[in-house]
Amino acid sequence: MFARYGFGEIRTPIFEDTQLFARGVGEETDIVSKEMYTWEDRARAQSEKAQSLTLRPENTAGVVRAYIEHKLGERGDLQKLFYIGPQFRRERPQRGRYRQFWQIGVEVLGPVSSGAESPVRDAEVLEMLATLLDELGIKGWRLELNSVGSSDDRKRYNAALREALAPVKSQMCEDNQRRAETNPLRVLDSKDPHDQDIINALPKIADFLDDASRAHFAAVLSALDACGVAYTVNPRLVRGLDYYTRTTFEFTVPDGSGLGTQNALLGGGRYDGLSEMLGGPKAPGIGFAIGEDRLILTLQAQAAAQALDVRTPNLEPSKLDAYIAPIGVERNAAALALARELRRAGLSVEVGDGTFRLKKSFEAADKLARHIVILGEDELATDTATVKIFATGQQVKVAMAALGGHLKTI
Ligand code: HAM
Repeated sequence: MFARYGFGEIRTPIFEDTQLFARGVGEETDIVSKEMYTWEDRARAQSEKAQSLTLRPENTAGVVRAYIEHKLGERGDLQKLFYIGPQFRRERPQRGRYRQFWQIGVEVLGPVSSGAESPVRDAEVLEMLATLLDELGIKGWRLELNSVGSSDDRKRYNAALREALAPVKSQMCEDNQRRAETNPLRVLDSKDPHDQDIINALPKIADFLDDASRAHFAAVLSALDACGVAYTVNPRLVRGLDYYTRTTFEFTVPDGSGLGTQNALLGGGRYDGLSEMLGGPKAPGIGFAIGEDRLILTLQAQAAAQALDVRTPNLEPSKLDAYIAPIGVERNAAALALARELRRAGLSVEVGDGTFRLKKSFEAADKLARHIVILGEDELATDTATVKIFATGQQVKVAMAALGGHLKTI
């Protein structure tokens, strides 16, 4: 899928300097303030200070760090990158939420001249996700999106939220009282049932967008309409990371899709100021990360609901081309040499052990491979092998020189 859309793979380290996440993701976010696995790395020399390192809680900051460090912007073109790997957050473990989990993500970024800021990029990424989920057979997914505007828009919106929250925050839960002070945007994604009426009455970010952000969002929506990708605009969707600007989105699946109380399969958005925040050049970008664990739980639950088992075909390993059974320990070395030759010719091979009785070798071979190749004294003396094809039960003698071809064709 990623190749079809022109993406290449990027691999970044599992841990990074703590400051990268503190500055990129944001000190006030739950991720940075509560959920990171951070340690002081011992200094190598007395003159060196210890460095604070963190297991990555997400990969956007790491990709942008690599973009800056390796001067990818100087190439001038759009960077379309994907990654698949583990991330770490100290969350309360439950179904669909783990302390080590996997993400499949992409980041599209580059200098403004590469078109990285264009709403076409937002729509392309969203259309790719819709196609991916459809091709995987995920049922009932919903795309929710919003625009959180430029960082100036957000400053004005934050100020308005603070003002609106001041007279009512004492009626809210403790968490929301704290958020109202430190990061009022976070109040919007509170699930506390008692606070919902207050939250629904708060000002909407749409009323604080400048003309450019408004036009950008309208262009994203009309490109989605043109592609026939269905969406719902959710004015409360502000996401839990501070780097977002303009388009933010989540794809959710219906209750009962195997995720327990979680329903966000993936999330993402635009981060037009992140590179500059990290000391790099202007490099607007957009990306997402799919929770791979959640994707698999959903596929399994939805397949079970349709009485299908998606696991069976995938877990059934395909059979090896051959299992070599040496007769007697004296033949072990010759068996290994034959396996080397066949593997180098591109065949998949397992080697038995000369101490096995023939019956045991046959049983092991039948489980693993399409053929058993018997290597005894006679065979070695005549430069042949005895081959049994399990599918037909047929047993033949084959000259060593012809063995590879024989095993491949039958
Ligand atoms: P995020 O919303 O924090 O965004 O995470 C993306 C997805 O990762 C979530 O929707 C969820 O499926 C999965 N996920 C998060 N935490 C856990 C967990 N503890 N256990 C299992 N799955 C989890 C980001 O990480 C951004 N870096 C996405 C992005 C890329 N934005 C722009 N580019």
